[in-house]
Amino acid sequence: MSKASVPITGETVCADFNHVRAVLHYTKAAHSLGLWRSEQVVIERFLTDKSARLLEAGCGAGRVALGLAQLGYAEIVGFDFATELVEQAESLARERAVTNVHFAHADATTLAAQGKLNGNMPQKCTRAAPSTCNLIGDKRTEWVRAESFDGALFMFNGLMQIPGRENRRSALRGLHALARKGAPLIFTTHDRNDEAAERRHWKRQAEIWAAGKQDPALVEFGDRYFIDDDDYRVFMHLPDRAEIVEDLAATGWTLEFDEMRRRLAVELKPVRDFSDECRFWVARK
Ligand SMILES: C[S@@+](CC[C@H](N)C(=O)[O-])C[C@H]1O[C@@H](n2cnc3c(N)ncnc32)[C@H](O)[C@@H]1O
Repeated sequence: MSKASVPITGETVCADFNHVRAVLHYTKAAHSLGLWRSEQVVIERFLTDKSARLLEAGCGAGRVALGLAQLGYAEIVGFDFATELVEQAESLARERAVTNVHFAHADATTLAAQGKLNGNMPQKCTRAAPSTCNLIGDKRTEWVRAESFDGALFMFNGLMQIPGRENRRSALRGLHALARKGAPLIFTTHDRNDEAAERRHWKRQAEIWAAGKQDPALVEFGDRYFIDDDDYRVFMHLPDRAEIVEDLAATGWTLEFDEMRRRLAVELKPVRDFSDECRFWVARK
């Protein structure tokens, strides 16, 4: 149970990711873990053309974006709303002399706000002025245009760390607007119906919500707000499969593939320690 007495917002989540303990956790993973086997399997299966220009939402400290460069993809733009993580990603790219990955600062929920492709940052989570946080207007990424990406990714459940279903749908719409026709969107989520113990847990939670006794920090049924093993706060929405199917359909994406991670690859222990089981999703514009 969290201490917050009002529902979590994007600003809370952004501040949590900018916290030094979260920054250390994701920076360590970017330096030492790289892509998971399952990520590589799905990415190479659905992004067969290595000349692709890819967009990674929620890039964090660069674990996936730099992994994509290592796989040989031509150009990658990674963006995140947590400035501290973006700085770590940029620093790792410099350290590795990677020149085809660009990092930007933007909020995934406002990429397509009012029909325009820009991102207005939640003020409280920026160190720089909010005007530097516009993905399209960012001086380093001026060339980011609608329908210009051959693929989009939102890995390691980042999409589910956006509080509020309508906000998650906004992010899906924004990525849709930036992707060219035919481009795949690859992302992962938990699946709260996957295991018997989880189903029991969520059955109890449903009773708590029905009685109006849920944690006031939570926005919707399926949300969790907890302290991770590395001692930083995590907001996570755990959907069921039907919810994601509906959200993809509502935002213009066509579902092409979904599968639990354990059926795609056997992950090494450091990856299992870093991350729980999840469901991979691939949808097409
Ligand atoms: C679980 S972390 C994954 C980081 C990195 N992709 C990795 O796999 O190591 C999720 C990331 O999504 C970012 N994120 C969450 N909501 C976001 C939003 N609305 N806009 C941009 N980034 C967001 C967080 O700041 C965080 O870096």
